[in-house]
Amino acid sequence: MLTDSVETTIDFAPFRRQFPALQQEVNGRLPAFLDNPAGTQVPQDPIDRMREYFIHANANVDGAFRTSRASTALFAETHAAMADMLGAASPSEIIIGQNMTTLTFAVSRAMARSFVPGDEIVVTTLDHEGNVAPWRALEERGVVIRVADIDTDDCTVDMADLASKITDRTRVVAVTHCSNLVGSIVDVAEVCRLARNAGALSYIDAVQYAAHGNIDVQAMDCDFLVCSSYKFFGPHLGILYGKRARLDALEPYRVRTADSVPPGRFETGTLNFEGCAALLGTFDYFERVGRAAGPGQSGRRELVRQALSAFRRQEHALGRQLVEGLKRIPGVHIWGITDPDRLDQRVPTVSFTKDGMHPDAIAESLGNDEIHVWSGNNYALSLTERLGLEATGGMVRVGPVHYNTSEEIDRLLEHVDGLRR
Ligand SMILES: Cc1ncc(COP(=O)(O)O)c(C=O)c1O
Repeated sequence: MLTDSVETTIDFAPFRRQFPALQQEVNGRLPAFLDNPAGTQVPQDPIDRMREYFIHANANVDGAFRTSRASTALFAETHAAMADMLGAASPSEIIIGQNMTTLTFAVSRAMARSFVPGDEIVVTTLDHEGNVAPWRALEERGVVIRVADIDTDDCTVDMADLASKITDRTRVVAVTHCSNLVGSIVDVAEVCRLARNAGALSYIDAVQYAAHGNIDVQAMDCDFLVCSSYKFFGPHLGILYGKRARLDALEPYRVRTADSVPPGRFETGTLNFEGCAALLGTFDYFERVGRAAGPGQSGRRELVRQALSAFRRQEHALGRQLVEGLKRIPGVHIWGITDPDRLDQRVPTVSFTKDGMHPDAIAESLGNDEIHVWSGNNYALSLTERLGLEATGGMVRVGPVHYNTSEEIDRLLEHVDGLRR
């Protein structure tokens, strides 16, 4: 047995049963979904909500008839729910869009209207391409991209290097909340403080972090934060938070008939309202978990916080089991924090290589055994380049969330242990 025991504060077994995909046996066994950093499974509620939408509310918003009124109301409710989840001051600070990458391209283009050649943007080596390419696109206007380095021993952002990259020309500091490849959490409140002190805007990519812990944009004091609900048990949507004053100051590209005020000013075209309905289903689920985790709590904001805290506690145990188990397998190298006393500085997104084996071959062997994982750079290209792993196929990424089990981690560990070149 390769594992440590798992302790958790609530029993997640009944919640796991609420995810239909997790109950579908393939060749007599249940799949182990450990591909979550690329997208999570959904509970029954989003599925039901989307079905209801198509039957009872399928219309564009702002019309004077029943289905349109229903669509308008659920769209407004989606903004309110996301404002609760992110701790925003108002639903008008929440923009709904296609995904994080598309929203970030829209924001970078809008910001660039006031940039001049020589203005600087700081990103980091940990960042996903979704938080690199939209800023790099501005190089054609003479904007300079500066990249804060990492400590290659534990794959954490070198905060001293980041501070030194911020100058009086810095306009934006755009940083990931945690790595989608190696799991390291960035001290984003400190990043926002450094940006603010330099008169620059902060832009936090919380796509990977949002499934793993609570976010409070007001406590963090960020200017912008972006996430995607398919990473936290919901549909394929992107969500952007912007401080109201910052949104008011930006002039996004839009049609003449679009709203003149946020959020409508940023929400181009007809949106994915059935996806919004599904996202409200994700909140139904969060509220149920929140009630189990924090009896006596009421109110969506508090229940969501309780649920995410419970997820984090549960995942932390799985992450510890995974890291400790991988460490014991000969020839395996984990990229990122492995010190047992520092595991709270990472999310349980754990990537590794195994001597003499291509990451794709490992992922394929696991996949053939219905253990779902990803391999490669997973769009954290700057990181695999920096670590010299691009030419050798990157890493194998394993990402448990609260619905995974200790048995699934064991299954993965035993499979990896048994792999021979
Ligand atoms: C950290 C991080 N940022 C950005 C993205 C891109 O998100 P989206 O697919 O919503 O554009 C991802 C997706 O994996 C991610 O993990």
